[in-house]
Amino acid sequence: MKGLSLSLFLFAILGFTVTKLGANPCPPPEETFPCTCEPGSTGYPVIRCNKLKNITQLGWISTISKGQAVEKLIVSNSSLLSPIPGDIFRGIILSALRLERTNVSKIGSVEIPAFQGQQGSIVDIFIFAVGRVVNVTFANMHKLEYFSMSGCTVSHVGPHWFLEGLENMKDLSLYDNGIESVGNQAFSKLTGLEFLDLSYNQIRDVQRRILPWPASNLYFIELSDNKIQYLPNDFFAEMPNLREVYLAGNDITTIPEATWSKVWKKLVAVWLEGNPLICDNKIAWIYKRDFPDDFWGECTGPESLDGKQLQDLTLKDLGY
Ligand SMILES: *[C@@H]1O[C@H](CO)[C@@H](O)[C@H](O)[C@H]1NC(C)=O
Ligand SMILES: *[C@@H]1O[C@H](CO)[C@@H](O)[C@H](O)[C@H]1NC(C)=O
Ligand SMILES: *[C@@H]1O[C@H](CO)[C@@H](O)[C@H](O)[C@H]1NC(C)=O
Ligand SMILES: *[C@@H]1O[C@H](CO)[C@@H](O)[C@H](O)[C@H]1NC(C)=O
Repeated sequence: MKGLSLSLFLFAILGFTVTKLGANPCPPPEETFPCTCEPGSTGYPVIRCNKLKNITQLGWISTISKGQAVEKLIVSNSSLLSPIPGDIFRGIILSALRLERTNVSKIGSVEIPAFQGQQGSIVDIFIFAVGRVVNVTFANMHKLEYFSMSGCTVSHVGPHWFLEGLENMKDLSLYDNGIESVGNQAFSKLTGLEFLDLSYNQIRDVQRRILPWPASNLYFIELSDNKIQYLPNDFFAEMPNLREVYLAGNDITTIPEATWSKVWKKLVAVWLEGNPLICDNKIAWIYKRDFPDDFWGECTGPESLDGKQLQDLTLKDLGY
């Protein structure tokens, strides 16, 4: 009797394990067409959809996978010109979404922010080369840590892009989207922000108020290859953890003490190559103290210092 119940017990465990390992979380291919579905590294489905013609072809996801976790959804080479409905993935637990070379007109709105029903699950969103203007509204996505969008056409990042409930967003990259301006307080609710990348855009004007106050976790600001002429005096105020600032390829002519002295001591990297820097007494303050290990840029004037590297300058070169 004892032997029997033990073997029943073992059989039950074995049977359970086999079923669990053998279970394919994906529906049969004919139900997912034109998408494919296969178990990913976590055992949960990774869904790939190439060349979708409209958003309704994604509809099967919310019905078939109800209550189930999805490791990643990748949509490529598709045209989803109708707005992505706010609730398209309701019922599933999606952790990462990638849109590659896919035309989308709008992702969420102020009335219905993106991905309702996913607030507790999406950790990572990556959008690359969406062929047209995208208007984004995110709110209450408490797990969202990474948002990256590049190769899109966006002239203005509006104040409605990142609303409340995004306190875990650590890494925001909006590089190479043709952005000309960033709305007042556009990123100010992202209180957990550590990395901000706005490089390769057409930004002329940056204001302190686009960022949280204080920006307690902000470590890295990448603004290279824009059209910035100067930073406002308060730009680095209340950024206790800032360590790296990249401003290469802009139109900056000087490095004012009033702007930089607040954070200078703590910075480990300041990159200013490719700016029309004038090396005169306005930057002498830098050579009266230590400067960051990683400090790059070169003088374009006065003539006697043209081409001289910032890290090789001395007070003597500046006439002291
Ligand atoms: C989406 O595509 C499917 C299949 O090609 C078609 O039946 C449907 O009418 C399309 N829906 C819209 C809104 O265009
Ligand atoms: C999407 O299209 C590009 C360019 O035609 C191609 O290189 C890429 O492999 C396609 N993506 C997929 C997942 O098929
Ligand atoms: C996206 O839109 C652009 C411009 O409207 C078009 O040239 C391109 O072919 C579209 N891409 C896809 C995948 O539909
Ligand atoms: C983007 O969406 C916001 C709010 O949903 C709206 O006010 C704004 O006009 C839209 N912008 C564009 C370019 O469609």
